[in-house]
Amino acid sequence: MKAIKLISIVLAVVMCAMAFVSCGKTETKENDDKTTVDTADTTASADNADGKDEDKVLTMATNAAFPPYEFVENGDYAGIDVEIAKAIAEKLGMELEIIDTEFGSIIGGVQSGKYDMGMAGMTVTDERKESVDFTTSYATGIQSVIVKADSEYTDFMEFYSELDEEGTPVAVKEGITIGVQQDTTGDIYSSSDPSGWGFGKENVIRYKTGNDAVQALVAGKVTAVIIDNEPAKSYVEANEGLKILDGAYTDEEYAICVAKDNTDLLDSINSALEELIDDGVVAEIVEKYIPSK
Ligand code: ARG
Repeated sequence: MKAIKLISIVLAVVMCAMAFVSCGKTETKENDDKTTVDTADTTASADNADGKDEDKVLTMATNAAFPPYEFVENGDYAGIDVEIAKAIAEKLGMELEIIDTEFGSIIGGVQSGKYDMGMAGMTVTDERKESVDFTTSYATGIQSVIVKADSEYTDFMEFYSELDEEGTPVAVKEGITIGVQQDTTGDIYSSSDPSGWGFGKENVIRYKTGNDAVQALVAGKVTAVIIDNEPAKSYVEANEGLKILDGAYTDEEYAICVAKDNTDLLDSINSALEELIDDGVVAEIVEKYIPSK
């Protein structure tokens, strides 16, 4: 009920991303200069002077501290997004290059053409859609609330000291602090006012990574961490003495973002992604990292 109410109140995040129809051009790197090549035209993907076929590189910006979507394992990038991105690149006949950066700089980098796409368990939101385009959604998530295992709290509603007659929060309990990864939806929702089912900017501590937020919780510096549910489970598994509160904070859809003027790349990624979804490849990858049993 609360979650449903919340969804209707916060920015409309649960949106099916749209498929855009166009034909194949993509931005690629060439000795740091950006050039536009036609991926549909094989004669256009000529080798550079050094013999490397750099025209065929697909750059993906991510923030690789977000298991099981992206993380570093034995020096390599792994996770659901990484494997789906590799499968997309393979279908497009391109080589995937992963760039690990701060989550908050992904959208700007995609907008400026520094990266071809952003894939980072990224939630589709109306606000982000003003800056970038999103592909078809390939996964769903919910925001979860992590607290210490011995916490007195059993529901995030207990973080509020006062509700109005409709049950909408009015004030946050004294001493409540919420840890989040900066620039994520967890940050955006938590930082809104109690009337918007947040906890007020002043009660939110923003960390560089989700893991930093979780370590602050372990150290007793925050009351709770609000983060996507699958990373929440991974963090709870990896750190002793934590638990996830029952009930979802809000529902979300994940998609890949590309620059607004790059509808050709959006179209290429969408057709590859939709094939991978239809063929069950995406489900297989998800099952590998999030076993249903
Ligand atoms: N789904 C959330 C958002 O889009 C969090 C994503 C964080 N991803 C990451 N790789 N750190 O804001």
